[in-house]
Amino acid sequence: MNRITLPAHAKLNLTLDILRRRPDGYHDLQMVMQSVELHDDVKVTLTDGEGIVCRCGPIPGDESNLCVKAARAFFAQTGVVQGGGLAIDVVKRIPVQAGMAGGSSDAAATLRALRKLLKPELLGEELERIGAAVGSDVPYCLRGGTALAEGRGERITTLRAAPPFQVVLCKPDFDISTPALFARVHVSELWSRPDTSGMLAALHRGDADGVLARVKNVFENVLPPECVEVFEIKKKLHDLHAEACAMTGSGPTVFGLFRDEAEAKRAFRALRREYSKTFLTRFV
Ligand code: C5P
Repeated sequence: MNRITLPAHAKLNLTLDILRRRPDGYHDLQMVMQSVELHDDVKVTLTDGEGIVCRCGPIPGDESNLCVKAARAFFAQTGVVQGGGLAIDVVKRIPVQAGMAGGSSDAAATLRALRKLLKPELLGEELERIGAAVGSDVPYCLRGGTALAEGRGERITTLRAAPPFQVVLCKPDFDISTPALFARVHVSELWSRPDTSGMLAALHRGDADGVLARVKNVFENVLPPECVEVFEIKKKLHDLHAEACAMTGSGPTVFGLFRDEAEAKRAFRALRREYSKTFLTRFV
């Protein structure tokens, strides 16, 4: 076998809380993460050529690409010597710079593909350790499903799968820089924080109402005024009968959760008229 294609799923934050700023410049977080069906496809091929060739849709395939970083980290950390070259081809569907961990998920799929092709005996925890060096969200993306992410985001506890909600995702036409948004956070001034332990208990009970009531992202506290569209989309989703809405990650994508598939479809069609980057998907 010299080629494998794997799906790289997008993620949502059902909760995102920032606990403290750390001396190393990162922040300690508590996040309940959920993967959704929306995914990129990552094809990894062992070639007769040399070096790493990465084609990743609109994103440069150079050394800054997280798939390339993941491949370099895999070879450096495992000591595996790959005689020839490597081609990484990504079909992008997850919007870029959207708070859905698209790049981290592509990196995680690259690591999983390399393990399958070159070192199947490598333990999952070892792969997560390699992933953590590539990006804070990569260990979660290696696991997927419903999970609690703590520390920098790299400490993962798998949770009971969340109730199977339908999701409408909508990305407004601007980007938010993650480091710039973290720089706006003064932890003691965050006034509206998620009830993470309540969310964990609701998930444990399989209590859909309890989950819906606790969807919250603390980053919404510190959005700059030019990001007001995030709140406008939340209001639209709410008016379209979403049962919970929040921004995911450092944004700017907003998601709405629905139990009723027909309502979700209606909301999707209404929002898509205004926003080209609107998606209808579901928890996986
Ligand atoms: O780890 P990653 O490269 O994905 O993080 C991007 C940036 O986000 C970091 O350079 C840092 O500014 C910020 N960050 C943070 N605390 C975290 C994760 C990310 O401050 N837990």
